[in-house]
Amino acid sequence: MALENMRAMLAKALAGRYGVGAFNVLDYNSTKAVIQAAEELDAPVILQTSAKTVTFWGSRTLVSWVRELAGRARVPVALHLDHCKDLSLIQECLEAGWTSVMIDASARPFEENLALSRQVVALARPRDVTVEAELGAIVGVEDDLHVKEQDSHLADPRQAVEFCAQVRPDCFAPAIGTAHGIYKGEPKIAYHILEEVANRTRVPIALHGGTGLSDEVFGRCIALGCAKVNISTQIKYAFIDGFVGYHNTHNTQYDPLKVLQAQFDEMKKGIAGNIKLFGGAGKA
Ligand code: 13P
Repeated sequence: MALENMRAMLAKALAGRYGVGAFNVLDYNSTKAVIQAAEELDAPVILQTSAKTVTFWGSRTLVSWVRELAGRARVPVALHLDHCKDLSLIQECLEAGWTSVMIDASARPFEENLALSRQVVALARPRDVTVEAELGAIVGVEDDLHVKEQDSHLADPRQAVEFCAQVRPDCFAPAIGTAHGIYKGEPKIAYHILEEVANRTRVPIALHGGTGLSDEVFGRCIALGCAKVNISTQIKYAFIDGFVGYHNTHNTQYDPLKVLQAQFDEMKKGIAGNIKLFGGAGKA
């Protein structure tokens, strides 16, 4: 299938109260792992790329392997640019063929975030590209964006309603207490904020910081309106642990394809588990 944007898949997920897994891919092998897991489970899926990953490979190279793999898939696949602060990179991805982009102007004052997010919607909509925007500050490290705990703040529901009314994003990421990276303690999720924002805006919510959340947290967040569920750190760990783990147990072998296969299997196993847990299986 050709790549599609996130609109229809998130609308269906919100209505059916399940989550579409949004997985940060790093290379051809991880992209293939996401698509194969989604196909085997007959699930819609979102491939996300960090700004750093786009810069590392180049937008044209990256989009070419994604199109090749998604083109053969029988399930809906979207290609989404995760947390991007840079308007020129957003423009580049729009031109290269991304079907969805995230503008992350959450570190700016409210009015500036609003203006920049509106500008991205104006650029994306004529191309039928969907837009995710963020409000509040999600703690942790994603790409090269570091948000320290003392600098984090949750989204204000009143501002969130105004933000969504003015920006009209296709997907909204309010900070609700989840964090990127590995959780140091039990995360405190502001369910009341999520519930109020989801009910008042009716916009599909993106749940950031998926790695390490419990089944119960995923279940509650999805039931309250999180239609997109982001997973990145877990894939980074599987990428490295799968590779190194195989080599450590076969350290005289030096057969790169076997190591890549072990890495692929490790990533795919986690991704398939996520898709089932979020309720996306059978929803393609
Ligand atoms: P994790 O790295 O915690 O899985 O978060 C992913 C994410 O929210 C990407 O934007």
